Amino acid sequence: MFDSGFGGLDILKNIIKELPQYNYVYLGDTARMPYGTRSQELIYNFTEQAIDFLFKNNCQLIILACNTASSQALRRIQQEYLPKNYPQKRVLGVIIPATETAIQKTINHRIGVIATQSSVDSKAFEKELKKLNSKVRVFQKSCPLLVPIIEAGEQNSKATQLILENYLKPLIKKQIDTLILGCTHYGYLKNKIRKIVGKQINIISQGKIVAKKLKDYLFRHPEIERKLGQDSKVSFLTTDLTDNFKILGAKYFGQNIKLKKVSLE
Ligand code: DGL
Repeated sequence: MFDSGFGGLDILKNIIKELPQYNYVYLGDTARMPYGTRSQELIYNFTEQAIDFLFKNNCQLIILACNTASSQALRRIQQEYLPKNYPQKRVLGVIIPATETAIQKTINHRIGVIATQSSVDSKAFEKELKKLNSKVRVFQKSCPLLVPIIEAGEQNSKATQLILENYLKPLIKKQIDTLILGCTHYGYLKNKIRKIVGKQINIISQGKIVAKKLKDYLFRHPEIERKLGQDSKVSFLTTDLTDNFKILGAKYFGQNIKLKKVSLE
């Protein structure tokens, strides 16, 4: 699994709960995060390096547990990079599982998406939602302050509450009935978001959804499934090793984790 930082740890936690038998490698590009404010070209280059690294380290299937990388790099990776370099291997993203679930849940066909600036600019969520149902109205809001808040462990501060209200109120005014948390980090703010948007709005957060879709994918693709190691081993790699990553990584994964520093360049 690959993410720019440790937002994807929530997805990994859910995947391990659903599929504990497999071996996992989690790679967080902590030295170069955040990705969400960068250009498409740079996000693509970073993502390609991460994929190359993981495949060279014997991974068979990669989940881009980062919406920014999924929205800005996945299509090109799947259509150009894999066929040329790793035709037997697969890379999956996290946007389609979230949009499929949102379409199942919405009744009034008004869906809100909060995500990084780069994911919003790519319109990836909007395109995927409209592919599934052309009648759907999509209201996007970039939330550039939320990733730094999570990375700093400041989600319980008063300032965070005000910032969240500021981001969410325009979407509530649009009368959305479903809200996609389109950034892996935002799952850690779900309870706070729930209090602001109320019970009547469906909140789509990716952890459990991606885990269920992966289980289904492996069932439908035995040719990939049979190549996966099944010793329940999990390793955590980062491109920078800070005390903050150690503490918050353990907090977000739910247990202490042993980190190893690697270089992608
Ligand atoms: N994890 C990324 C995502 O899901 C956001 C973090 C970043 O900006 O690097 O979009």
